[in-house]
Amino acid sequence: MSDISFRPLTPITGAEVTGVDLTADLPSTVVARLREALLRHKVLVFRNQPMDDERHVALTDAFGGATAAHPIVKGLPEAPAVLRTVLSEDRPGLKESVANPLSASVPRRIRTEWHIDSTFVVNPTSITILRGLEIPEAGGDTLFANLEALYAGLSPSLRGYLDTLQAIHSRHNPSPQPNSDGKPAGPFAALHPLVSVHPETGERSLYVSTVFLQSIRGLKPRESQALLDFLLDELAGRDEIHARVRWEKDTLVMWDNRSVAHAGPVDGLMFGEERIVHRTTVVGDALSGPHGFGSRSLMGGRFEALT
Ligand SMILES: [Fe+2]
Repeated sequence: MSDISFRPLTPITGAEVTGVDLTADLPSTVVARLREALLRHKVLVFRNQPMDDERHVALTDAFGGATAAHPIVKGLPEAPAVLRTVLSEDRPGLKESVANPLSASVPRRIRTEWHIDSTFVVNPTSITILRGLEIPEAGGDTLFANLEALYAGLSPSLRGYLDTLQAIHSRHNPSPQPNSDGKPAGPFAALHPLVSVHPETGERSLYVSTVFLQSIRGLKPRESQALLDFLLDELAGRDEIHARVRWEKDTLVMWDNRSVAHAGPVDGLMFGEERIVHRTTVVGDALSGPHGFGSRSLMGGRFEALT
């Protein structure tokens, strides 16, 4: 255990971990040490961890209990906690864009929106664990943004105002079939504090997402949009709060979904190979804001652990 080491990716966000074999059962002391490191670095990157889905789920359970793969999208039939995401070799527009990636006429990106996983449920997942199965030689990186640094970088006056706000997060495209956990697969909507207080560290994060966050409660539509435009520009534009993870086959990345947002793959139309990743998530709690406001469900139930 004394051999575990953490090499930061940037001064404030992310670390590569060496000296841990995630393919075997982890002693509780190692889990505790990794959890402590996760709270500090927010993103942990492990290389050369070949495992199957069963092991991936066991690892997830060790950190607090695996949920179904997704509140709406079904997991694998043989592993309902695992969400498989494939960028196939026949994705639309690929041939043209790979042949001439700098052409103005082809879309540059596929799936890059900055987001926090599952914020449309009242208790978004606490930790996400993503594993690379098929990875291109170059491309498909994932970006992370440190939401505590995003908050801390704003003026005290603005932070004081943001502390008082709540935001509506929703996803309205339900699946007609029940989810793997047997519950209705949407629609979902939740009201969350715009600034969340981390349940383990007490640190404040600016809880913003370009995907599911619809509006700020109590503001006029133009006010809400202008404020969100500014905050999301800060999220995407402040390079010093970002970390970028380059994938390899059997790379496993674990992030604290309460204190980082992520975006990726950043360049899905610039490489021609398949990219396949498997994801699991650890059950989370409703959020708390600085003034005690707790997340409320507006539509849909909680997203619980499978077992
Ligand atoms: Fe995600």
